[in-house]
Amino acid sequence: MALPAPKPNTTVAITGASSGIGAQMAQILAAKGYSLTLIARRTDRLNALADELKAAHGVAIEVISADLADSSARATLSSRLSTGPTLIGLINNAGFGSFGPVSEADQDMERGMIEVNIAAVHDLTLRLLPGMIERGEGAILNTASTAGAQPMPNMSTYAATKAFVTSFSEGLSAELSGSGVSCTALCPGPVRTEFSEVAGSVGLEDSMPGIAVVEASEVARQAIEGMLKGSRMVIPGFANRLTAVAGRMAPRSLVLPIAAKFTSR
Ligand SMILES: NC(=O)c1ccc[n+]([C@@H]2O[C@H](COP(=O)([O-])OP(=O)(O)OC[C@H]3O[C@@H](n4cnc5c(N)ncnc54)[C@H](OP(=O)(O)O)[C@@H]3O)[C@@H](O)[C@H]2O)c1
Repeated sequence: MALPAPKPNTTVAITGASSGIGAQMAQILAAKGYSLTLIARRTDRLNALADELKAAHGVAIEVISADLADSSARATLSSRLSTGPTLIGLINNAGFGSFGPVSEADQDMERGMIEVNIAAVHDLTLRLLPGMIERGEGAILNTASTAGAQPMPNMSTYAATKAFVTSFSEGLSAELSGSGVSCTALCPGPVRTEFSEVAGSVGLEDSMPGIAVVEASEVARQAIEGMLKGSRMVIPGFANRLTAVAGRMAPRSLVLPIAAKFTSR
């Protein structure tokens, strides 16, 4: 029902471990004695983090370079994860956003976002979950967002991808009841990482109410705590828990103009 204790020849895989929330989750898990498989495209960053964690905590760290937008790279990654150390945790954290009207968007970037934020989460879960169920233990954590609680003008594709991740993860969490495997949806509000730079809107977090911004290290701490307990959902920060409820419950006619205010820069 939750992330098992670390044992020899086991690993927790983290996608998007080269920066931000993923790198912070790696720090926390390594400090708790978990061996890790770090996945992203920037292997220089992953190798530097792996060296740091091995030296500090004496855990085994494997680095895998993979572009999660590429379905064949996902298949190769999944077979490596199925044949290496026993996978006791899968953290589908890699993701990115874009900013601006869909009509003016970089179309390749928008399509890539669907691949990384949705298809990779779905694909890795489909391929790796059966092994966990067979072993009767394991934990999946999928990084969604409070952006998935309601549509967001100027971040329309991103918010829709995160609505998928939230819904998929919550449904799976219920399906897995009694299986020994858990699924947790992590729904952060604004976090200062490289996210806004990648989205082409540096300082995006600063246009959000300051009370909603939570540090990446704290988001990661609450995420791992939730994964250890097998929680269905983790929303770091009181203000974000409120806005997530409001975003889901309030009429769209009210929510859309408010959301547009925060994303009209
Ligand atoms: N920051 C926020 O305000 C916020 C709020 C809510 C949710 N989130 C979510 O939190 C997660 C982590 O984001 P972050 O804030 O930590 O941003 P970040 O610092 O930009 O980290 C994004 C991570 O995703 C990886 N990634 C992106 N595209 C990839 C690809 N094609 N293949 C493999 N890896 C890829 C990046 O690695 P490489 O570039 O090295 O491949 C990087 O490690 C994302 O799912 C994001 O949507 C962020």
